[in-house]
Amino acid sequence: MIYFDNGATSFPKPPGMIAAMSRCMSDYCGNPGRSGHDMSMRTGEEIHRARMSLAKIFNIDRPERVVFTINATEALNIGIKGMLNDGDHVITTAMEHNSVLRPLKALEDSGVTHSIVRCAPDGCVDLKAIQDALKPNTKMIVCTHASNVVGTIMPIHEIGQFAKSKNLIFMVDAAQSAGCVPIDVDEMNIDLLAVPGHKGLLGPLGTGALFMRDGLAPRPLKEGGTGTESKNRRQPSELPESYESGTVNAPGIVGLRFSTDFVRNLGVETIRDYEERLIKPLDQSLRNMRGVTVYGPSDCSQKTAMVTFNIDNKSCEEVAQILNSEFKIAVRAGYHCAGLAHKTIGTWDTGAIRLSVSPFNSKKEIKAAINAIYKISKR
Ligand code: ALA
Repeated sequence: MIYFDNGATSFPKPPGMIAAMSRCMSDYCGNPGRSGHDMSMRTGEEIHRARMSLAKIFNIDRPERVVFTINATEALNIGIKGMLNDGDHVITTAMEHNSVLRPLKALEDSGVTHSIVRCAPDGCVDLKAIQDALKPNTKMIVCTHASNVVGTIMPIHEIGQFAKSKNLIFMVDAAQSAGCVPIDVDEMNIDLLAVPGHKGLLGPLGTGALFMRDGLAPRPLKEGGTGTESKNRRQPSELPESYESGTVNAPGIVGLRFSTDFVRNLGVETIRDYEERLIKPLDQSLRNMRGVTVYGPSDCSQKTAMVTFNIDNKSCEEVAQILNSEFKIAVRAGYHCAGLAHKTIGTWDTGAIRLSVSPFNSKKEIKAAINAIYKISKR
């Protein structure tokens, strides 16, 4: 199988990661932060190392401000639901995943309002539109770093500067960018950063993290099971445990540390460069192919490594099915959990096919995809 569904989850995983997870399970996995015995302590140390690795990759100076979650959706829910109160207003964009738009919709019942700023057909948001959406009660801007539908990279630096100048909380959904595009929380003025472990960071499914800047204390989504302050009826406020209720996914976090170190050793810039070079010929070939429509920025430096397209007179599901069964190529078709983003790019009625790469894909695989799509377009 040629795997081109890395926007959904990365495959394969870095060599050695599964062995590291397996060693954790077979050799030492105790419950971290619960007991003083060697196994519990060793597991706790491994989890601390993972936290440090994540802090380093995003230039976070206090690792305890990184809390482990089960995915980016949970991290987004903690930041959004935990920070906003009756009367607050939020600015977001039409390119968001429903992991942002659904929590915001749910919060309407609690008196939290939001404005969804329109984006250009290539998915890009204009800073001016965000500025124009500002209200006296705006508390937060939530924005994706890169669209999961077409990869468009948002002007995060500029939005971060604006948020800072207006004293707003700036939350970034890095579901498609963490590990693929450099992120520096200080340079970008990011207050809350939600990341998945299993996409660009190449780690196991069931892992993710939330960074929260000093001074921010969202209400936790869950209470209990912190392993500390057992006599206290209330949730402790200490980081990171106040947000890590219940036993953490230690083998998963060990895997995430391994994969994050792998990404750091390769270098996010190097990965970005490699993926951009991979995607460019695919993007250009499909744009020149008769009967094929490609969506999103035509300049590959303006997007993460994906190509989203449709073939005339064929449903996106049918094309994905042919790619899978005849050509053994895995892609994702449909609406990608982001209906409004599809409305923005003009595919509300059709959905689209998304082909997304990882550092483990090769030029040869890209050529195979170009040939397969060409053949399908000729039928
Ligand atoms: N949100 C993930 C995607 O875009 C699952 O496929």
